[in-house]
Amino acid sequence: MRIGVLTGGGDCPGLNAVIRAIVRAGEVEHGDEVWGFLDSWDGVMDQRFVRLDVASVRGLLPRGGTVIGTRRGSPYDRPDGVERVRACFAEQHLDALVVIGGNGSLTVAAKLVAETGLPIVGVPKTIDNDVVGTDITFGFHTAVQIATDAIDRLHTTAESHDRVMVVEVMGRDTGWIATYAGMAGGATVILIPEIPFDIADVCEVVSARHKRGRYASIVVVAEGAQPIPGTMVVPDYETDHIGRPRLGGVSVEIAREIETRTGFEARVVQIGHVQRGGTPTAYDRILSTRFGVAAVEAMHRREFGSMVALRCSKVVTVPLGDVDGRARTVDLDLYRDVASIFFG
Ligand code: F6P
Repeated sequence: MRIGVLTGGGDCPGLNAVIRAIVRAGEVEHGDEVWGFLDSWDGVMDQRFVRLDVASVRGLLPRGGTVIGTRRGSPYDRPDGVERVRACFAEQHLDALVVIGGNGSLTVAAKLVAETGLPIVGVPKTIDNDVVGTDITFGFHTAVQIATDAIDRLHTTAESHDRVMVVEVMGRDTGWIATYAGMAGGATVILIPEIPFDIADVCEVVSARHKRGRYASIVVVAEGAQPIPGTMVVPDYETDHIGRPRLGGVSVEIAREIETRTGFEARVVQIGHVQRGGTPTAYDRILSTRFGVAAVEAMHRREFGSMVALRCSKVVTVPLGDVDGRARTVDLDLYRDVASIFFG
């Protein structure tokens, strides 16, 4: 088969490991030829690509980012975008395309399959862990580890000064990183987009902790967390080139409120893109490798319009259409029945 690969949306650790796995499994097991489209859908529409063979993917397993580049955006952003994608398949004699993406890229891929019947298989990625249909996405485990390491370090400096540290992690629509890193790092409170928060409650928890004689608090907040309307100022976000709010900064408002209301000094730490950079954890390298191999097998079974996924520890395929622009939210039983027991 002649197989194209693209990486779409925000990068995450493990993308290169998937590319390597697709090339190894495709070339060695099936005699496939693999082509990497540069800069996501732009590379397909403009027919910009590189040949990927076993020699060219050596050393990629531990490397962060994506060697074929990524962008946010889709063929639907250009009037002739879909026609250009069709033309690329025809002119490059592509038998299949693997789209390695998050909710945005996979929703676009599903729409293309539905409208054009193009032979596409999806692979779910994102540090946010919010793709419907899979128990986990690669990149998430690495981001959680990075955020947890940061929280561990913040405990000692916070304790030395008896301060409140407000730690902002990524998580636009869902609070998976906040919940996991907050649990692993022993957070005083965790704030997630799924549950609007009342800053008065947060301050009460912090004050009660300090009254018990404890020093320092760590408040972990997902960038997309929202106060209950009317309870607190919310940042005025700019939008990015695809019209999404450029998040980051809710922690600043939260820290200001905590300082004013409790009298404890508060500091802000926004971990930001550090969570997306660098080498994947061993877990993510293995998950990426399993997903890459599974995508090749799915193409050879001609299971187009599907996405590889992890379900109960097994790699399976699910309909790509299930993604459908939705976000997989945090398991609220985990948040309410386990994580919150440790608040305060
Ligand atoms: O890829 C997901 C994500 O990391 C979100 O958590 C975050 O809101 C967004 O990407 C940031 O995007 P950008 O890199 O375009 O600023």
